[in-house]
Amino acid sequence: QETPDPAIVEKQPWNQFLGPGVDEAPYGMPSKFEAHVRRQNVPWLTADPVSSINFTPLHELDGIITPNGLCFERHHAGVAEVDPSQHRLMINGLVDKPLVFTMEDLMRFPRENHVYFLECAANTGMEWAGSQLNGCQFTHGMIHNVMYTGVPLRLLLEEAGVKTSGKWLLPEGADASGMTRSIPIEKAMDDCLVAFKMNGEALRAEQGYPVRLVVPGWEGNMWVKWLRRIEVGDKPWHHREETSKYTDLLANGQARRFTWEMDAKSVITSPSPQMPIKHGPGRVVVTGVAWSGRGTIPRVDVTTDGGMNWHQARMSGPSLDKSMHRFYYDFEWDGKPLLLQSRAHDSTGYVQPTKEQLRTVRGDNSIYHNNGIQTWAVNEQGVAENVEIS
Ligand code: MTE
Ligand code: CO
Repeated sequence: QETPDPAIVEKQPWNQFLGPGVDEAPYGMPSKFEAHVRRQNVPWLTADPVSSINFTPLHELDGIITPNGLCFERHHAGVAEVDPSQHRLMINGLVDKPLVFTMEDLMRFPRENHVYFLECAANTGMEWAGSQLNGCQFTHGMIHNVMYTGVPLRLLLEEAGVKTSGKWLLPEGADASGMTRSIPIEKAMDDCLVAFKMNGEALRAEQGYPVRLVVPGWEGNMWVKWLRRIEVGDKPWHHREETSKYTDLLANGQARRFTWEMDAKSVITSPSPQMPIKHGPGRVVVTGVAWSGRGTIPRVDVTTDGGMNWHQARMSGPSLDKSMHRFYYDFEWDGKPLLLQSRAHDSTGYVQPTKEQLRTVRGDNSIYHNNGIQTWAVNEQGVAENVEIS
């Protein structure tokens, strides 16, 4: 006679007592059993949390949308608490008619909805010299994927009337860092948004409330938060964030300039160091995410033996331009050690390179734009570790 499972035969507290009624949580929060699903920082990475970064818990998420409260944060001067009634967006410089918009003004322009990933150019930057951080949250978590509601920047620029000499934009943040980046006018006219909603609700303060710039497919640093001004000029400004930062030094001492687009990349989110296989041999769901700043991801390959055999993964969920994609590889694990990798193909035909291929072209000095293939070594116990194989 087997002992009966108490989870079936015994009454649980939630069977016996009435639960809280409606209105207990006017703004709903996750179950208390999900308290471990949270953004985390790596304290030794930065001197203090004000100019710092934390990471999206990719290993705990599924589908393609990042919940608002779990979007990684990158601030150069902490979170600005902007009062929307006191916030203004100015367009000045090489325009026929300099303009100042209130939030109410912005809400009267035609708006659009788009799902886009935002990846910090420094995502995976700590892995250039070799495998370092143990978990996809830390190696790949400087990314989120959100549905934005916003006004095409083109409409605001048309309202101001860009002079023919106006070729570049300088968006500026209202936070204490006053962050600025130079953006070519073609990109602004193509698909940039001045966004005020994320996943249907107002932007979170951490993400730039009440308004941020969305620069689809391009490095996160250009997505200026707490957007207060856009200057139109005739050449790039070459400010701090596009010279000493967000450029990569090649082996010959030259720096790569204007590396805006995010290359195709993927990572297996489970199994991974924070998501070991706990159930032993048998059926395993391998899953992960892939994205490209140049289009969609029609295909991801997965290997369990370090690249000797590749299997085409199953894509599931919307395949949207410059958005995260979800893939699965379902297989029977024989309990032997695994070397798990994923490899993204984007709609331009580009294939995600190995880390070694990247280093051959870019040298060892880079920080930014590391889109190399990630390896997780899984041992017989199902414990996963960040490794590099050649
Ligand atoms: N905008 C302002 N005003 N201030 C900032 O510090 N950080 C930039 C960018 N926009 C920043 C900013 C960087 S480096 C990145 S990667 C993204 O915002 C991060 O966006 P997130 O905090 O929504 O993840
Ligand atoms: Co960044």
